[in-house]
Amino acid sequence: MLNRRRIVSTASSVLCMMLTLSLLSASVLRAQAQTAEPNKATLVVRTGQPGAVINKNIYGHFAEHLGRLIYEGLWVGENSSIPNTRGLRNDVVGALKELHIPVLRWPGGCFADEYHWRDGIGPRDKRPKRPNASWGGIDTNAFGTHEFMDLCDLLGADAYITGNVGSGTPQEMMEWIEYMTSDSDSTLAQLRRQNGREKPWKIPYFAVGNETWGCGGEMRPEYYADEYRRYATFIKNFSGNHIQKLAVGSHDDYYQWTEVLMSQAARYMNGLSLHYYTLPTNNWSKKGSATQFDEKEWHSTLVRTLRMEEFIQKHSAIMDKYDAKKRVGLMVDEWGTWYDREPGRDMGALFQQNTLRDAVVAGINLNIFNNHAERVQMANIAQMVNVLQAMILTDKEKMVLTPTYYVFKMFKVHQGATLIPVELNAPEYKLDQAAVPSVNASASRDQEGKLHLSIVNLDPNRAADITTTIDGSSVKNVSGEVLTASAMNAMNTFERPDAIKPTSFSGFKLQGSQLTLSIPAKSVVVLELR
Ligand code: AHR
Repeated sequence: MLNRRRIVSTASSVLCMMLTLSLLSASVLRAQAQTAEPNKATLVVRTGQPGAVINKNIYGHFAEHLGRLIYEGLWVGENSSIPNTRGLRNDVVGALKELHIPVLRWPGGCFADEYHWRDGIGPRDKRPKRPNASWGGIDTNAFGTHEFMDLCDLLGADAYITGNVGSGTPQEMMEWIEYMTSDSDSTLAQLRRQNGREKPWKIPYFAVGNETWGCGGEMRPEYYADEYRRYATFIKNFSGNHIQKLAVGSHDDYYQWTEVLMSQAARYMNGLSLHYYTLPTNNWSKKGSATQFDEKEWHSTLVRTLRMEEFIQKHSAIMDKYDAKKRVGLMVDEWGTWYDREPGRDMGALFQQNTLRDAVVAGINLNIFNNHAERVQMANIAQMVNVLQAMILTDKEKMVLTPTYYVFKMFKVHQGATLIPVELNAPEYKLDQAAVPSVNASASRDQEGKLHLSIVNLDPNRAADITTTIDGSSVKNVSGEVLTASAMNAMNTFERPDAIKPTSFSGFKLQGSQLTLSIPAKSVVVLELR
């Protein structure tokens, strides 16, 4: 993606006028929100027609050696004054544990195709320092395989490792897997033991490169399909470990890539990835601000987010031609918002603030993934801490939880539950010439029989009154949480860390089998129905 897709005022009175105008328009917006008639929608939840199990890995995350994600965001070192466990900061790990993260992708991203695993093992003071050629700065390699696996253990997450194709070899990849997973007395297994890890680790997911159509090697799909087959041959299962092999997939609407990979290599893979980022403007050289946006940019962000539905449908249709039984998973292993660099921040660090708009984007995407549970077997938001659409932002010893963090916390009830189809009829939310559905939803039933319903109201001005029918079950109890705020760009900062967080949801009426929901404008709601 990197290569192809990125490429004093005159008078204080003018400033004053602008300020007055923007305050005016903000209050007009708030007034509108209070007085505008709610949208009327209907929702039927078909509990008698359960679908596929929602793979818990749809709630996966991604941590790349980029900006302040690994170093500072997760790793501070054992001697840091920031409280830590074996070098991993306690506050961040503690907060992440609450999300029940099922799977964590590492070490990149573009970085994966320049990463040589031997740099990151052994005594830390002996590890080489290397330039991070993708994102700038020097990587001390203090965080390597052992530190990553320790993080996975602390989080209770499965490891998803991306191997180096762009500047590596099949041998290097094969030996990394042996080092991590072999219980034999081979030299590499012994080396792991010398480095402090007696038992082999389980590595359930391993990818053959990243974005090999771009930063991973600028390959043509035909060339990569052959490379994939070659490298995948050397991904071996040692000592009872069983690896799911993942191939680099397409981005956005690059359907030709999916066509070639599926026709040439499907039988050698367990999953094929898809990358799609939401840019408010769809323009890589001027993406839009993370925090300073008007309703037009709120709307265009949601228009672009909803393209995920189209991409999944079309890539899945191609996959169906070659894999009707849906054995190969579509792994959306990079998704999220991507905004312009904030003034004063490092070019390569990809740090961005996170607002209510990001929460709405996250809710929409997670609902889309749930609804495609048959084919989508994994998704990894980019990225975990301090980079792009992050869960957590840090500033040295300080930490703040983002609105996106709370969406993942609210939605975790869907992990491993069975998809329940929903039929939603909602008016459009229109602006200028474009329109999106004003409401987006998904539902599931967990193993204890509880129904979970997640609803996003995309319209920043109108509540949604939803007449809801729970078809096939009787509901006696409703409870839930809502995430919303009065401003579209509400955010948590180090000064006001609790400005936006979920509260208990009371906007429902249950009369017999009739459930009426009043979902506030610009909000994310998750309900439990029993
Ligand atoms: O997430 C940031 C970058 O976006 C990743 O390194 C790369 O895979 C994609 O281009």
